[in-house]
Amino acid sequence: MIELLQWTNEYSVGVADIDDQHKKLFQLINEFLKSIAKNEQKQAITTAIEKMSSYVEYHFKHEETYLKKHPEYSQHHKEHGAFAIKTLKLIPLVNTEPSAADRELLEYLVVWLQNHVLGTDIKHFRYLKENKLI
Ligand SMILES: [Fe+2]
Repeated sequence: MIELLQWTNEYSVGVADIDDQHKKLFQLINEFLKSIAKNEQKQAITTAIEKMSSYVEYHFKHEETYLKKHPEYSQHHKEHGAFAIKTLKLIPLVNTEPSAADRELLEYLVVWLQNHVLGTDIKHFRYLKENKLI
């Protein structure tokens, strides 16, 4: 099984509500990974991915209310969009054939999220704080 995500302080962007949402997102991805690993019923797997996908959309929208003030906002928004589309496309795929959620696909989700929070998010929130934009 893919290693579950674990939120630690290194993931902190320095803004409490965003950190809380990232924790929740990690938890929802973990639930999806677990439902796949346990080979649960299609319905349970689909529910897990739907929950994750809708939270991804909600979270990106919220995060972007801060990030709009960053000069590289449009790039950040694009990164979010690409990931959100990927998770949306997963719903029918997993619903038709849960084994389509293979290791490569799951690793993509996990690695993308880790890299995005540790890279772009932390960098952009730091800039916003340093420039007193939030
Ligand atoms: Fe982000």
